[in-house]
Amino acid sequence: MTPAISSDAFAPLAGESSTPLYRQLYDRVRASIAAGDLAPGDRVPSARALAKELGVARGTIELAYELLTSEGYLLARGQAGTVIHPALPPAEAPRPQPAAPAEAPLFLSQDTISRPAQLLPFQMGVPAMDAFPRKIWARLGARYLRGMQAADLDYPPPHGLPALRSAIASYLQVARGIDCGAHQVFVTTGYRASLQLAALAVMQPGDRAWVEDPGYPPTRQLLRESGLLPVPVPVDAQGLVVERGIALAPDARVVTVTPAHQSPLSMSLSLPRRHALLEWAAAQGAWVVEDDYDGEYRYASRPLPALASLDRHGRVLYAGTFSKVLFPGIRLAYLVVPQAQVAAFERVARIFFAAATPAITQAIVADFMAEGHFSRHIQRMRKLYAERRAATIVALERGLEGRLRTEPQPGGMHLVLRLPGERSDQALAEKLLAQGMAVQPMSRWWASERSDSAILLSFTNCTTPAQAERLGALIRQSL
Ligand SMILES: Cc1ncc(COP(=O)(O)O)c(C=O)c1O
Repeated sequence: MTPAISSDAFAPLAGESSTPLYRQLYDRVRASIAAGDLAPGDRVPSARALAKELGVARGTIELAYELLTSEGYLLARGQAGTVIHPALPPAEAPRPQPAAPAEAPLFLSQDTISRPAQLLPFQMGVPAMDAFPRKIWARLGARYLRGMQAADLDYPPPHGLPALRSAIASYLQVARGIDCGAHQVFVTTGYRASLQLAALAVMQPGDRAWVEDPGYPPTRQLLRESGLLPVPVPVDAQGLVVERGIALAPDARVVTVTPAHQSPLSMSLSLPRRHALLEWAAAQGAWVVEDDYDGEYRYASRPLPALASLDRHGRVLYAGTFSKVLFPGIRLAYLVVPQAQVAAFERVARIFFAAATPAITQAIVADFMAEGHFSRHIQRMRKLYAERRAATIVALERGLEGRLRTEPQPGGMHLVLRLPGERSDQALAEKLLAQGMAVQPMSRWWASERSDSAILLSFTNCTTPAQAERLGALIRQSL
């Protein structure tokens, strides 16, 4: 067994890089294995020794080692130390993955490359994993599997199972005030697939597209990769500043917006702004993509009707997802398109996305909705989140000893904690990650140069106030 501390994998880490330290180490070890620089059976330095050597927190090294162990690259042998897994044949060593690009966000949903192996406290974008009604789900799933007929083994219809499309249309009518028929609902594998479907069906390369600033990074990335030109438009206490959008890009053909709870600041788009946006879109012939990822979770009052419910000119493409109301691993979402666009979307869906979503998943969700479990689950979650949110705020602010306060918001699944002065939210988020807390730095959400510092933290899985108090204390100590 050769001690491997001399390998390049364990050279000093780049503190100024936007890639988290644990991630740099993880990437390097994998690359060194692939290059044959680290061989199966080689001993890696202990987390304590390496942390000391590199001058970083021990938690940083442990996090990288944990990831590498869970993926089979390392083997912990107790007293005998940790080694490169002896079962890894050098010839078949996996290729190194390219490091995440500098602007890649930390742990965004679907950002599986930089996502930690296990769910960490305060991680954004995930509903309460302990509260999903698994027994009901298992019962419906088993019933469907037992009753499958020959026809159920065929490709599902390209735009989604009729039963699911109509369950979604009925739900939207009641819960979000959207007047649509099942034929306007296109079932997809996630929000990005919905946006891509819209881009292929009605957008043109070179079109200018307003994006909220700050805003959900994958939206602008996907638009850019589709050849569109994202134009960052500021948001204020009333959400997207429509008049600024008109001033900045009056000729835009696309607007992406999160009206229920702006991502990531969580304010709602005010009624006058909603009307102004729809009037402008109708006059300009622009498409408004309404990203309603968490509209159900409002605590100050009943959920607001969707922007699409006010659309009299057929300009809104409504994107909904099951990631927040069921669970993200389900990979199920939908796009509701205006009546006049159905044929154009059907064509594109058939060519590019035909039958992309498994029939089994669609059928179980259709039953889950039709039998009332879906509405009941949402109601229960709304209550649970209101409680967890309140308890998290109290405990976090106790830990902060009054130094900072969370921003009051009407809804959403996370809290925003603004940092004073020039504090780097990124450095703080990395430090907290090394302590096992997966908060997000808001600077990653900004498209423009301006980037106020803030920490974003989800409360949906925060079950013990002590966790939040500890987070508050760690943040306070770093101020
Ligand atoms: C702003 C926003 N839109 C959409 C989504 C949903 O994406 P998906 O359906 O791909 O899970 C998310 C998930 O975190 C989000 O934060």
